[in-house]
Amino acid sequence: MTSATQQAPMLSMYDTSYDVKRIRADFPILQETVRGKPLVYLDNAATAQKPNAVIDCISHFYRHDYANVHRGIHTLSERATAAYEGARAKVQRFINAASEKEIVFVRGTTEAINLVVRTYGQAVLKAGDEILITAMEHHSNIVPWQMLCRETGAVLKVAPINRKGELLLGDFEKLLSNRTALVAVAHMSNALGTINPVDEIIHLAHARAIPILLDGAQAIPHMPVDVQALDCDFYAFSGHKLYGPSGIGVLYAKSEHLEAMPPYQGGGDMIRRVTFEETEYNTVPFKFEAGTPNIADAVALGATVDYLNEIGMKAIAAHEHQLLQYATERAHEIAGLTLIGTAEHKGAILSFVLDRVHPHDIGTVLDHFGIAIRAGHHCAMPVMDFFGVPATARASFAMYNTFEEIDRLMEGIEQVIEVFG
Ligand code: ALA
Repeated sequence: MTSATQQAPMLSMYDTSYDVKRIRADFPILQETVRGKPLVYLDNAATAQKPNAVIDCISHFYRHDYANVHRGIHTLSERATAAYEGARAKVQRFINAASEKEIVFVRGTTEAINLVVRTYGQAVLKAGDEILITAMEHHSNIVPWQMLCRETGAVLKVAPINRKGELLLGDFEKLLSNRTALVAVAHMSNALGTINPVDEIIHLAHARAIPILLDGAQAIPHMPVDVQALDCDFYAFSGHKLYGPSGIGVLYAKSEHLEAMPPYQGGGDMIRRVTFEETEYNTVPFKFEAGTPNIADAVALGATVDYLNEIGMKAIAAHEHQLLQYATERAHEIAGLTLIGTAEHKGAILSFVLDRVHPHDIGTVLDHFGIAIRAGHHCAMPVMDFFGVPATARASFAMYNTFEEIDRLMEGIEQVIEVFG
């Protein structure tokens, strides 16, 4: 096993001025022990842990301000509505959308993509049209399009990747045609960590007047996102990967699209006037928020954004970049470990396999050391097929992870090799 003294010189090359200790103190779950060991939580790409600011916000909202929104004329309802719409404004500023009207609250990224598929997609797609995705998409950016293609006779096209897990941009460009109705691409891959060259992708698509959806589920916790600078048409993300509550997410869409799109679901709040003969729909974004929304979690997503703004997404990105660099260097020292996903431009995800050890066994042994990672296909089976592996082990880092935790991970991996090797 690599000793602490061997690791020290390498670690000294890193800037450790980021106050990770203070940040960790904000996340109560990080004080937990698992199997008698301090928890090392490295399953952040699946879901991130929550700071007190978020936990307390939910509790405070239910204790003091909770009522239904947009309906009541009583004080509590007005307070709840102000908090809910206030959260929308915070999210708008967080991603620099042009207007609050461009922020639709949904359950998460999957629902956001399904909303676009079932409204925009269903309205525009004809037989023979094409939807262009990439070979590194999460199932949630494959299956809904596949379903729609089956129904409409449209065709799902897939831009290939190389062995490092990078999009082949030339091939992507060649696949754009006058039949392409929409491009839908992961901003960052959950299985590989690859950050896609979204500026170029958007430029190529827009040069042909093709709209583009970015699946931002993995990117948004790791970097500043500015939807106006990106100029994407749609941006989908979840609250729970961003240190916010589960069950709340966001679809950003340019106003022009939201105005033109038919509603997603029918019901209360998305209407202006209903008779048995016809219904006049509400304005955007309410047209897309049928029924009582997830009020408290939306409000807490606003608190999440406040918390992240205090720390700064640039500082978070810089810290995680160092963690990934350090983890990658340490991983290279381990004989029999192969990284899956070695793109030049990567976010804080380390996917790997070990010779002769199934990823599930890696996950199980690491859990015995209190280390939480994910092992499996990561809802990206085509990526596993491309790399010829049934699954990978995946350690994914967040703003509260430390270099010492990476040392614990590497020591744990050495133990796995000792047990199975
Ligand atoms: N999409 C989540 C992951 O990558 C669940 O683990």
